[in-house]
Order: sequence, then C-alpha cells, then structure tokens
Amino acid sequence: MSSIQKVGVVGCGLMGRGIAQVCAAAGYDTVVREVNQDLLDTGLGAIRKQLDRAVEKGKLEAEVRDATLGKLSGTVSLEDLADCDLIIEAIVENIEAKKDLLGVLDRQSPEHTIFSSNTSSLTVTEMGAATDRPDRFVGLHFFNPVPVMKLVEVVRTGSTSQDTFDRAFEFAKSLGKVPVACRDNSGFIVNRLLVPYMLDAIRGFEEGIGSIEDIDTAMKLGTGYPMGPFVLGDFVGLDTLYYIAEIMFDEYREKRFAPPPLLKRMYLAGYHGRKTGKGFYDYSGDEPVVSDFVL
Ligand code: 3HC
Repeated sequence: MSSIQKVGVVGCGLMGRGIAQVCAAAGYDTVVREVNQDLLDTGLGAIRKQLDRAVEKGKLEAEVRDATLGKLSGTVSLEDLADCDLIIEAIVENIEAKKDLLGVLDRQSPEHTIFSSNTSSLTVTEMGAATDRPDRFVGLHFFNPVPVMKLVEVVRTGSTSQDTFDRAFEFAKSLGKVPVACRDNSGFIVNRLLVPYMLDAIRGFEEGIGSIEDIDTAMKLGTGYPMGPFVLGDFVGLDTLYYIAEIMFDEYREKRFAPPPLLKRMYLAGYHGRKTGKGFYDYSGDEPVVSDFVL
C-alpha cells in the first residue's frame, strides 16, 4: 500500500482553504481545486494573507511560510487531481453536487486513492456508495478556523475498511490534529451537540430570554466558551448553519434540529454572517454591532 504523498483538496472556500493550508504545512504536495479562477485566487490569497500575518506577528518563520506555499498549488481543473493519494472533498453541503463530483474523481483516480469528505452533516455512506471505492471512503471533518482548531472527526461507514480508517486517522495526526473516531451519524459528535445549542439560542432570542448581546455575553462568561452562540453562528456562516440544520432535521425528524424561522429568513435575506458582512451582527464598522435584521 503506497503512502500518502499528494493530497487533492476540492473546494477553496472557508474550509477547503484551511484544509489545503494545513496539508501543505505538514509537507504534503497539495493541490486545491476551485470551479473558477476568481474563487481560486480569493482562497489562495486568504491563505497567503494568513501566513504573512503569522510571519509579521513573529509566530512563523518566513522560510516555513515559503515552504508551505511551495507545497501548495491551485487549479480549476479536476484532471490535476488525477495522481493524488488522498482526496478531501470540501465543496458546498449539497449531496447531488458531491455525488456528481465524486463520480468524476472516481473514474480518473488510481485504485489506491483514498477519498474523503469534509461534510459536517451529510451521509458519508451515501457519498461512498456513489463511487466504486466505498471501502476506501472515509469522513474527515475539520473545524473552523482549520489552522487553529485541533480536532478532526474521522468518520467510518459500514463499508470503510480498517486499513482506510487507520490511514485517515494517522493522516489527521500527521497534520498536528487530534482525531476522534465517529460513526456515520448526521452531525457526528460535535455538530450533533453544537447545532441544537445554536438553534436553541435563536429560539430563546425569538422567545425573549435576552438580547443578542446578552445571550452571547452570558454564554461566553458563564461557561468559558470562546464565543457566544450568535458570534459563533456568524463565524460559521448562517447559510452553512441553515443547511446543516435542514439536513439534520431531515435525518432525525426531531424539533431540536429544525431551523428556527428567524434563521431561515436571515439565510434568505443574505444575512450569512461575517462572510457577507452582516448576520446577527453588522461587521461594516470598526467594532461589530447588532445588525438591523434583529434589532
Ligand atoms: N485562520 C487562522 N488563524 C486564525 C483565524 C483564522 N480564521 N482566526 C484566528 N486565528 C488565530 C490567530 O492568528 C491567533 O493565533 P496566535 O495565537 O498564534 O496569534 C489565534 O487564532 C487566536 O486568535 P485571536 O487572538 O484573534 O482571537 P481568539 O483568541 O478570540 O480566537 C478563535 C479566535 C480561535 C476563532 C476562538 O474564538 C475560537 O476558538 N472560537 C470558537 C471556534 C469554534 O467553535 N469553531 C468550530 C465551529 S463549528 C465547525 O467548524 C463545524 C462546521 O461543520 C460547522
């Protein structure tokens, strides 16, 4: 069995770019693919900016930054991923889009290539079944911001071989992460617990338990969480939170996973959090203030 040397990351959005960065930093030849040059430039630019900032702050040697960038390349062509040993899919949380992509990659990839998905809530089993390599398919779920968060959930389906799981687990360790083993249940461990909490904070606000700022302050200072639930929602992206909630509700049919009406309206209105400049907070000024949508 050949070892992992070249990693392909599909998607250079918030998660894909972080994953590509940590793979390159760990010394893997890494190629990241986006659908068009604009999105690719944005993603690669964000990686460069983050590494430059770390160098300016004295947290990273300039040579280490250069070595990381030297291991990283971008492409808009899936064909450039044809000789990867591991592929990590990190595109939009849409099962049909993922299955289409995986079908193309499956046809062009060598037999030994391990496929993985960074999905946070979709069924890894269904993705594996869309390929001819369900035994070499595993979930690798990273957390935002990927370069900082230590956890990776390594998700095993009923079809994942022991060898694939072990190699994915070791791969996560080689990135300096702490892997945990999860079964293929929607939301795995973290989102299964975190998403109902975030949705309940929104429901609590709708029911008048406190203001956006007071709920955030209460949870931050009362529990030691680094961010309150609304700051975290804006950070994760309210579009992403909405998609995850819909998927988990569909899977479990339990009210605690159902997206509250306010979240749906914010999603529909384009209030997606930091990425669009407005969510529960408005980020256009020097300091975030509660956004007009929830005043
Ligand atoms: N990318 C890379 N590095 C970042 C970063 C980013 N986006 N944001 C912050 N950092 C780094 C900073 O450079 C800094 O590094 P340093 O200590 O070496 O200088 C360090 O993180 C701390 O940053 P700050 O001092 O600016 O700010 P904080 O101390 O407030 O930390 C935080 C920021 C790490 C984001 C912290 O607030 C936190 O842990 N928040 C919770 C994040 C969380 O819960 N993530 C999981 C979300 S759920 C998820 O991802 C699952 C998905 O499926 C939805």
